[in-house]
Amino acid sequence: MKSKPVVLIVDDEKSARDGLVRALRRDYRVFAAENGTAALEVLAGQQIDVLLSDVRMPGMDGITLMQRALANHPELTCIILTAYGDVELAVEAMQRGATDFMTKPINLDKLELVLERVLKAKHIELENEQLRVQLDHKYGLENMIGNSAPMQEVFDTVRQVASSRATVLIQGESGTGKELVAKAIHQLGSRSKGPFVAVHCAALSQNLLESELFGHEKGAFTGAMERRIGRFEKADGGSLFLDEISEIDASVQVKLLRALEERQIERVGGDAPVDVDSRLIAATNRDLKTMVDEGEFREDLFYRLYVVVITLPPLRDRQDDILLLLNHYLAVFNKENDKHFEGFTPAAYGLLSAYGWPGNIRELRNMVERMVVLARGRLLDVKDIPPQMRETGGRGKGAVNTEMTVDEMEKQMIVQALENTAGNRTKAAEKLGISRRTLHRKLNQYGIGKGHE
Ligand SMILES: Nc1ncnc2c1ncn2[C@@H]1O[C@H](COP(=O)(O)OP(=O)(O)OP(=O)(O)O)[C@@H](O)[C@H]1O
Ligand SMILES: [Mg+2]
Repeated sequence: MKSKPVVLIVDDEKSARDGLVRALRRDYRVFAAENGTAALEVLAGQQIDVLLSDVRMPGMDGITLMQRALANHPELTCIILTAYGDVELAVEAMQRGATDFMTKPINLDKLELVLERVLKAKHIELENEQLRVQLDHKYGLENMIGNSAPMQEVFDTVRQVASSRATVLIQGESGTGKELVAKAIHQLGSRSKGPFVAVHCAALSQNLLESELFGHEKGAFTGAMERRIGRFEKADGGSLFLDEISEIDASVQVKLLRALEERQIERVGGDAPVDVDSRLIAATNRDLKTMVDEGEFREDLFYRLYVVVITLPPLRDRQDDILLLLNHYLAVFNKENDKHFEGFTPAAYGLLSAYGWPGNIRELRNMVERMVVLARGRLLDVKDIPPQMRETGGRGKGAVNTEMTVDEMEKQMIVQALENTAGNRTKAAEKLGISRRTLHRKLNQYGIGKGHE
């Protein structure tokens, strides 16, 4: 059994306090305090999950208490108890950080329900937090940027499928991060202790590919001097990543289908099937369904692969991510090259966010690297952008937005970063990939600040 959640009850009225203590004692560890000062003392010495406080008390009122408590324990769940009809106070409490409020006299059954609900919500939040930490730490999702809705969806799917054995097909244009996602699925899943074996199907001739995948026995063909274990077998207990799966020819497709259906392979020139337990992750930048329709790819194999499909959207379709990625890679390459660029000029941002990025994230990454290495000054400017990008840059429309719009955009990013970090400037600057000093300057420039403390 898990330990009981801990509740702190604060009420100046002894009978009310005792009543709540008695009611909650069975399912919770309960502490009680008769005023705000005493409550803060308890909070300083005890891990408390839920603060349950009356609002009207002599000395420190419940809302002030809650605010002080939250300042030191931001994860604390607060429920404020108000007198019947004190709606305004209840609203104020919610605005200042209460998770819920209840009106007195307290209906104990209802209180139990509310507690259960808030604790459950908190638990889920914590789990997500832990999962995120785990993700970041385990496969460098800290290097995988994507705040846009489609990318968040991708991350969710990755988490969901990682622990299963289901075949995953990752599709997306070149440079969208297919390999990164494949590795993430492997490392997040139960097979992370096993090997991650990648095969780039387009890079090998088909004969070679076949023996590369399935292995061969000694003497299977001219030049097969030794028995060779194929990648399928090497990936036993782990994951096999078949990149550019669209490029395998018909005979290898048949063998692959069998391997997937029967979880057995046959080495080239061998006569006994070998059991393999590897999880298949495939990637393609061509549309397999169209290839099926055109008779270029086996339909049965297609359906074997098409179990869980992850589609990585092209970069040009996720504007928000472009800005995040620019700043992310700026930080990366600043560090790598011992440079200190503080950011991009608004005009450069405008041009780069309007650019079509046919090479997606890989292109962006390479471009930022090049700019960091070659440019001088404090900010990366339009003149530092490779000329061919400047010319073909926009997608037809005027590539450079007006100053106003670009400023507005930058301002929005900053506000969002502050919101995402609960106003923590150091973390916000980190997220934006700029220094804290730059952030400070921009806050002044845009008149952001109050309300985001
Ligand atoms: N979400 C992301 N955040 C940050 N960097 C990323 C992200 N996705 C991909 N990258 C980087 O972009 C580059 C290309 O990624 P990756 O090799 O995974 O793409 P791909 O889809 O496999 O490309 P291709 O089809 O050309 O093989 C790598 O340097 C990778 O680290
Ligand atoms: Mg790739």
